[in-house]
Amino acid sequence: MAFNDFNMDSQWLPFTPNRSFRKDPRIFVAADGMHFTTHDGRQVIDGISSLWCVGAGHNRKPINEAIKKQLDTLDYATAFNASNDQAFVAAEKIAAMAPGDLNKVLFCNSGSEAADTSLKVALAYHRARGEGHRNVFIGRERGYHGVGFGGMSVGGIPSNRKVYGAALLPRVDHMRFIHDPANAFIHNKEPESQEDFLLELEQRILPLHDPSNVAAIIVEPIAGSAGWYVPPKGYLKRLREICDKHGILLIFDEVITGFGRMGTNFGADFYGVVPDLLNFAKCVTNGVIPLGGVICRDKIYDAMMKTDAPEHVIEFFHGYTYSGHPVACAAAIATLDLYQKEGLFPRAGEMGKVLGDAFHSAIKGLPNVVGIRSLGLAAAVELASIPGSPGKRAYDIFIDCFKKGALVRPAGDVVVLAPPYIVEKSHIDQLVNTLADSIRKHA
Ligand SMILES: Cc1ncc(COP(=O)(O)O)c(C=O)c1O
Repeated sequence: MAFNDFNMDSQWLPFTPNRSFRKDPRIFVAADGMHFTTHDGRQVIDGISSLWCVGAGHNRKPINEAIKKQLDTLDYATAFNASNDQAFVAAEKIAAMAPGDLNKVLFCNSGSEAADTSLKVALAYHRARGEGHRNVFIGRERGYHGVGFGGMSVGGIPSNRKVYGAALLPRVDHMRFIHDPANAFIHNKEPESQEDFLLELEQRILPLHDPSNVAAIIVEPIAGSAGWYVPPKGYLKRLREICDKHGILLIFDEVITGFGRMGTNFGADFYGVVPDLLNFAKCVTNGVIPLGGVICRDKIYDAMMKTDAPEHVIEFFHGYTYSGHPVACAAAIATLDLYQKEGLFPRAGEMGKVLGDAFHSAIKGLPNVVGIRSLGLAAAVELASIPGSPGKRAYDIFIDCFKKGALVRPAGDVVVLAPPYIVEKSHIDQLVNTLADSIRKHA
């Protein structure tokens, strides 16, 4: 399609500086494998799995065929007081992949909906057990849990919150962030830290609210949107122990770490820690069709079903018109089969090491580089801010990389690479060298 076949007057772009975009638009018209085609006919390599979604690469025939077949069979059916076969099959597959007794899947359509759903499940579960006073949530500074009011409230990225103050949930606190400047360079392994990042939770936050009032603690196993910040060794295990000690639910937001990014099914598997609720989206359908969900431990579902209410009464007043949409679920089934058939999760783990090695060797020591973090199939470079213009250096580098044919992700003063699991060494070299050139150019 030629650029002037459409105008740009009607669409307001999300999480995008619209004024800058209109001057220099980036528009995709096709994609295949590792590459996009742009409106002006250029090839751009996808260095960020299109927002961490496209694990299996673009235009995968088994997923496309499953969607087409489902459209011709059952296009949509009500999700309330009925369901569809694809939703049950997808839920069974997802539950089978999840660790421990994370066995019950509540579907929604996005990571933001998964965040709000998980918070509502936590409140409803405690109430069902006669502990309705547990209504405090604890998130973490610089956490990202989407853009719903619940997710924003427990999230900790200042720019996502500052305009919405009075509308945020009232009973929320935040743990300190997990970044240790002494561990600025993390190379394919969990950092060991002298800092105790959970001391404040135990010594200030929990006593302040009283642990008996806390419903849930929600964290991303690795802080993705903030810029791939990795917790120190033992952090998540100890968080699990603290939650267990006080009867607090632990929610892992695995919208980014779920379905292969760490070389395992979930971040929970990578870290050997089973949460009570696990949120997913993105890679579950290879990004092709929106689908999200919350996987709940048996005890949560069981508590909600143990009610004196008559059987015609709904146990959990929550759901979306498109919960368990048959086409999205057909896409999920085909995607999860494809990941397994092609061994893409172990491959992500292996290529993650290749990415981490290439990233450190090409980028460490370049001007303004103050940190590099690689673990799983993702790597991030932290850059010194331009005084008075936070975020500008990373944004300029993102624009420059795009012009050079590589899609990378700016996040504040960090630039992230997280390619599809099908990535080859030659793609990694191209991505890393393009990024390195742009960092030099913007010194
Ligand atoms: C950890 C996490 N949770 C929630 C979300 C929100 O997902 P969505 O944009 O699908 O609403 C994201 C998106 O990047 C995410 O990274």
